[in-house]
Amino acid sequence: MTEHAIGVFDSGVGGLTVLKEIMRQLPGEELVYLGDTARVPYGTKSPATVLRYALEAADFLVGCRVKMLVVACNTASSVAVPALERRCSLPVVGVIEPGASRAAALTRNRRVGVIGTEGTIKSGAYTRAIQALDPRIEVFSTACPLFVPLAEEGWAEHPVALLTARDYLAPLIAQRIDTLVLGCTHYPLLKNTLRAVLGDAVELVDSAEETARLVATRLAGDRRFRQQSPQLPRYFVTDVPTRFEKVGGAFLGAPLLGVEQVELDKS
Ligand code: DGL
Repeated sequence: MTEHAIGVFDSGVGGLTVLKEIMRQLPGEELVYLGDTARVPYGTKSPATVLRYALEAADFLVGCRVKMLVVACNTASSVAVPALERRCSLPVVGVIEPGASRAAALTRNRRVGVIGTEGTIKSGAYTRAIQALDPRIEVFSTACPLFVPLAEEGWAEHPVALLTARDYLAPLIAQRIDTLVLGCTHYPLLKNTLRAVLGDAVELVDSAEETARLVATRLAGDRRFRQQSPQLPRYFVTDVPTRFEKVGGAFLGAPLLGVEQVELDKS
């Protein structure tokens, strides 16, 4: 089992920010990545639909004989982690708990902002996770749907992104947050823009970094670290790979090689 890969899935390219962090923090691990590019975005879909997609993605990765499942997509993590834990007899790591616990540890004034897709924000998953750690923390959340296409367009630092960020973040700034959770796979690419709007006094919590740290902790706890040098990650997508290869390179910071197309919903 120790030698098996870690399975990472997302609705598309965004989860490559999580994959990149796992590769950086755990360079000995084999990785299999699945991007459900035929059905992206998840952020605008109902919880029932996202749950069904997540279960299908998990079944595919379990079929690849992975030793752990990482739900890199915040929207999927916000609705599907308990169901995935029940379905797969594997450790399942979502992105909500690690981001929430970092935010709860960092905040000094107990006023935390959360940004994410419509689905993630509507689910209230970050608010619940943060307040489970400290009920005195007030959580202010807002959906920032335009950040996803801006990041994919390569416009994360474009003036349009800056204007958009000013608008989205104004209500959170008005609430005097001192910590902001980047609750979406794409938002780490917008860090410079967010920093320009928020200034240095607000801490940014990158869910991708925190999730990779939790993956390392869980593997250490189960004594499942892999010691040998790994192959390159294997990439699977559900639509033709062209766009994933083109856009994903910027998310991963490296070229994406050998991407294969697969079908999940065979019913
Ligand atoms: N991966 C999604 C998330 O982190 C963003 C893109 C989508 O809406 O599918 O919530």
